[in-house]
Amino acid sequence: MELKDVAVLITGGGSGLGEATARAMAAKGAKIGVIDQNKENAEKVAAEVKGIALHADVTSEEQIKVAIAKAEAAHGVARVLMNCAGIGGSQRIVGRDGVYPLEKFARIINVNLIGTFNCLRLFAERLVTIEPVGEERGVIINTASVAAYEGQIGQIAYSASKGGVVGLTLPAARDLASQKIRVNTIAPGLFFTPLLMGLNEEARKSLGAQVPHPSRLGDAKEYGALAVHIVENAMLNGETIRLDGAIRMAPR
Ligand SMILES: NC(=O)c1ccc[n+]([C@@H]2O[C@H](COP(=O)([O-])OP(=O)(O)OC[C@H]3O[C@@H](n4cnc5c(N)ncnc54)[C@H](O)[C@@H]3O)[C@@H](O)[C@H]2O)c1
Repeated sequence: MELKDVAVLITGGGSGLGEATARAMAAKGAKIGVIDQNKENAEKVAAEVKGIALHADVTSEEQIKVAIAKAEAAHGVARVLMNCAGIGGSQRIVGRDGVYPLEKFARIINVNLIGTFNCLRLFAERLVTIEPVGEERGVIINTASVAAYEGQIGQIAYSASKGGVVGLTLPAARDLASQKIRVNTIAPGLFFTPLLMGLNEEARKSLGAQVPHPSRLGDAKEYGALAVHIVENAMLNGETIRLDGAIRMAPR
């Protein structure tokens, strides 16, 4: 599918990988809806890409419905959904601070996995009501992580949430195939985003050195470029693509 004049929704579009995707897709002529719970960042990115800011929490049915309707009023029904919103959080199952709190585990699953599904289903609900363009109606791209495969110590909830995103990719693609909607997932390795900006130069270099080749942290632009390619390549469907410079994470 060509991105020119196509309405796109990007969750977590106010920062990092989502922000880079907003820029990459806007450069291709797409109309961008930036969905983020951080209002200020959503507005900043939306202004830069001449899109629309949509302040919403991906876990809320109500808020995402309103965001989709607002974006539709401005740009028409969206044909591309990019799920980038996500949170981290590290703790051992039983550690110095005691047992892993159930609410914390549930919160990470709720944002990363259930939030992804919430946006996917509500986006698809609207998209199936419009006609396809050629052989396609639209595209959904989710964001997992290499932690879906090699979760490190402390990543129990994060890995489980991202494993869930990998797991829903094929059934979602099969389910929506009759509607001509493709579903793919990107599993990034280590990318330089605000998540890692708190680290000093030395810590960043040491993380980057763990990547076999190229031996550095990923640039969010590289993530945006893959997202654009997935939209443009009609044969890519039901797949999770690792974007990681061949890194395989160690236990710690
Ligand atoms: N940066 C990396 O190295 C890396 C590696 C693997 C996977 N990922 C995944 O990529 C995605 C983007 O990460 P990033 O590095 O750009 O992080 P980031 O923190 O820069 O951006 C995440 C954005 O999501 C938004 N967000 C969080 N919870 C939300 C919610 N409930 N509703 C709406 N918006 C919400 C935040 O406000 C933020 O703008 C995440 O899912 C993350 O798990 C990142």
